[in-house]
Amino acid sequence: RQMTTIGNKVEAAKMAAAFKAVDENLKPDDRIIGIGSGSTVVYVAERIGQSSNKDSFTCIATGFQSKELIISNGLRLGTIEQFPKVDIAFDGADEVDSKLNLIKGGGACLFQEKLVASAASKFVVVADYRKKSPSSLGVQWTKGVPIEIVPNSYAKVTRDLQEMGAKSVILRQGGSAKAGPVVTDNNNFLIDADFGAIEDPEKLHNSIKQLVGVVEVGLFIQMADKSYFGEENGEVSIWS
Ligand code: A5P
Repeated sequence: RQMTTIGNKVEAAKMAAAFKAVDENLKPDDRIIGIGSGSTVVYVAERIGQSSNKDSFTCIATGFQSKELIISNGLRLGTIEQFPKVDIAFDGADEVDSKLNLIKGGGACLFQEKLVASAASKFVVVADYRKKSPSSLGVQWTKGVPIEIVPNSYAKVTRDLQEMGAKSVILRQGGSAKAGPVVTDNNNFLIDADFGAIEDPEKLHNSIKQLVGVVEVGLFIQMADKSYFGEENGEVSIWS
C-alpha cells in the first residue's frame, strides 16, 4: 500500500515535470526535436504528441525505446544522420547537480543521448524530485558512472578505472532478463564505475573519456540549459 502511494507520487512528479517542460520550451517553429530515453520522457512524447502542428516537425530518437515512443505517439521519426542540427532535445537524468551536470546511462542509452543532446541548440532535462543532488554527483545515484565501452576492452578499461580510484567497477549484467552483459543499442557493453561523491565531474569525465575502449561517459558536463523537477507536493521546480 505504501509502495503504491510512493510509486504514484513519483509517476505524478515525472508527468508534471515533463508536461511543463514541453509547454514552456517547445516553440511552434522548432523543426527537429530530440527525444531521450527512460520513464520520464514517456510523458514528454505524450505531451508533444498532443501538439496540433505535428506535421511540421520531426523527432530524433536516442535508442530503441525512444524510437517506439515517437512512433506510438504519432510523431514523425527522423535520424541524427539526416538532421545533425537539432532545435531542442528533452531527456531524463539519473542525477542532476546545481550546475546542471548530469549522470545519465541508467537506462543504457547514454551514447545516443549524448549524441542528440550535443547536436541540440537547447537541452531540457525532465526528472522527479529523487534526482536532485545539489552538492555533487554520485550522492543520490550510487550505482556508479555508466560508461559505454567496446566489448573486448572491458578487462583493460576495468583495470584502468580501478587504477583511477574507482571503489567498484561492474560490467553491467542483464540480470534475470539475460545471462551475461547488457548489450547497448550500439552493440557495446556498459561499465558502472563508482567513484563515490564526485568532486570535479569535468575532470573525471575527461580522464575516463581518454581511456582506449571508452565510447562515451555518462557524465554530461554543462550540456543542459534547464532542468524541470516534479516535486513530491505536485509542484514543479526549475533549475537553470
Ligand atoms: C538512459 O540511459 C538514462 O540516461 C535515462 O535518461 C535516465 O536513466 C532517466 O530515466 P528515468 O526517467 O526512467 O529515470
